[in-house]
Amino acid sequence: MKTTIYYFTGTGNSLKVAKELAAQIPESELVRIHKASIKQLKEAPSGRIGFIFPVYYYGMPKLMAEFVKQLSMKENSYVFAAITCGGSVGPAMWQLKHRIEEKGLKLSASYSIIMPDNYIVFYNPPTPEVTEKLFKAQEEITREIAITVVADREQKFEEKTGMIAKIFGPVAARTFQPRNRDRHFWLEDTCNGCGICAKICPAENISYKDSRPIWLHQCEQCFACIHSCPKKSIQYKKGTLTKRRYHNPGIKLPELYMTKD
Ligand SMILES: Cc1cc2nc3c(=O)[nH]c(=O)nc-3n(C[C@H](O)[C@H](O)[C@H](O)COP(=O)(O)O)c2cc1C
Repeated sequence: MKTTIYYFTGTGNSLKVAKELAAQIPESELVRIHKASIKQLKEAPSGRIGFIFPVYYYGMPKLMAEFVKQLSMKENSYVFAAITCGGSVGPAMWQLKHRIEEKGLKLSASYSIIMPDNYIVFYNPPTPEVTEKLFKAQEEITREIAITVVADREQKFEEKTGMIAKIFGPVAARTFQPRNRDRHFWLEDTCNGCGICAKICPAENISYKDSRPIWLHQCEQCFACIHSCPKKSIQYKKGTLTKRRYHNPGIKLPELYMTKD
């Protein structure tokens, strides 16, 4: 049976999971979700359907939420999901479940996977020792997901959500609108106009003026632009000045580019 795995990613954690699942689930196809795919992909093929994406502010990335909302799926589809996070997915899985149930379908199996946190405004990525442990656990969960999916089994979502996520999660997930938050990006003089930030942006939110990037106020807050800048020239407020940059080491940076030239 065909399995279509739709994924959204900023820094590659969710792509790593999606790629491993695709390698372990026979006849599977990986489909990236980005700004243009919302218009292009309206109907899922028959078979199994998977959604893999990061949590943002305890909710679904807005592009992914929009995509799931407008996607039509056959009534007997087996639907599964894995959300990557730095600690807690909060209500993001409920949001997805609700969107799927609105279509008269069921979210049959769902998982959260803790990965290095890429929210660079607050956090440095974890140390190599911690990262290695996270990846080992991630690979184990991914194998478990693949076995569940191939058997078309049910897996109820289990997450121990902390107090902060319980209290602030529903409000943050409902109200947070990332789009014009890109007004907080700024550039150091070291920017050489290489164009990687524009290439990597899944929201087509970066254009160039006088060889310098400008943000177009349809940001998803994935922070791929900051993390991928080879000169560390992109900053967001002041919090990013001293932070290390990150992308999943199992993914080559060009794999994250939207345009391949
Ligand atoms: C804007 C933003 C908000 C985030 N919010 C949360 C959150 O609410 N809870 C959490 O555990 N991790 C949060 N994270 C961490 C990411 O979900 C996590 O690092 C994820 O694996 C990144 O996936 P990607 O590499 O596929 O983009 C956030 C990251 C960003 C950039």
